[in-house]
Amino acid sequence: MLVFAKIISVQQKIESLKSGTSIGFVPTMGALHEGHLSLVEKAKNENDIVVVSIFVNPTQFDNADDLKNYPKTIDKDLSLLKSTNCDIVFTPTPEEIYANNIQSQSFDFDGLEFQMEGKFREGHFNGVGTIVERLFEIVKPNKAYFGEKDFQQIQIIRKMVEKRNLPVKIIACPIHREKDGLAMSSRNIRLTKEQRVSAPFIYKTLKQAKAEFGTKNALEVVKWVENEFKNHPLFNLEYFEIADEYTLLPVETKNSTKKYRAFIAVFAGKIRLIDNISL
Ligand code: PAF
Repeated sequence: MLVFAKIISVQQKIESLKSGTSIGFVPTMGALHEGHLSLVEKAKNENDIVVVSIFVNPTQFDNADDLKNYPKTIDKDLSLLKSTNCDIVFTPTPEEIYANNIQSQSFDFDGLEFQMEGKFREGHFNGVGTIVERLFEIVKPNKAYFGEKDFQQIQIIRKMVEKRNLPVKIIACPIHREKDGLAMSSRNIRLTKEQRVSAPFIYKTLKQAKAEFGTKNALEVVKWVENEFKNHPLFNLEYFEIADEYTLLPVETKNSTKKYRAFIAVFAGKIRLIDNISL
């Protein structure tokens, strides 16, 4: 496994590969868990080589504390990646990526950016678009792999690829969960013991909401979920929405030809957790 911190070095390595070598790319912000490793294995099964990037992208954080406290575990990440089929790791600094202008470009994602996460994390998706496009430019992958925990992010990246005609296929991979149902996330290691023990409540509520959606309309299910969280001693609900998978617009009336998903964001103290379920 080769590790490069400089754009020029990773590009030279990629350019030296035999022509026709297919590249699978897994962009990450580090603090890797089994979910990330499963993306690496899937990428290796479908490509000749796998490139993983580890970069905590400052422009996608709307909250300075969240950026400061985002877990950084580079040594552990590299040793985990060594145990997989990863070929190349790219670990740039913010200066390497942004020079001295740490700013996002402004994107038009046809309104996807204004739903859910977009309502609560100002500028987040401009930051994601900026870094993902930049990494695609550097790595030039054939396929890029993303986890469905950040489902809205995947739809936004697909939109960017379509609008900017980028030559990369986006592969969405199912959410990896702990045995008790909690969606794997780099942020989970920041939970207190008590918060961690109670955190499966989030997925349990999503599963119950899915069952409720069989007989109730979306508004009633939203009310039901809000009520479940109302008096929770550890978790504050930021939003729960049932939305169309493609437009991400909230459901008004159910239509059997459409695919829906329920999306949730919850605060455990200062730690923000998100999850979603296909309905
Ligand atoms: O999902 C993430 O970890 C990040 O948003 C990504 C795609 C690596 C961009 O920084």
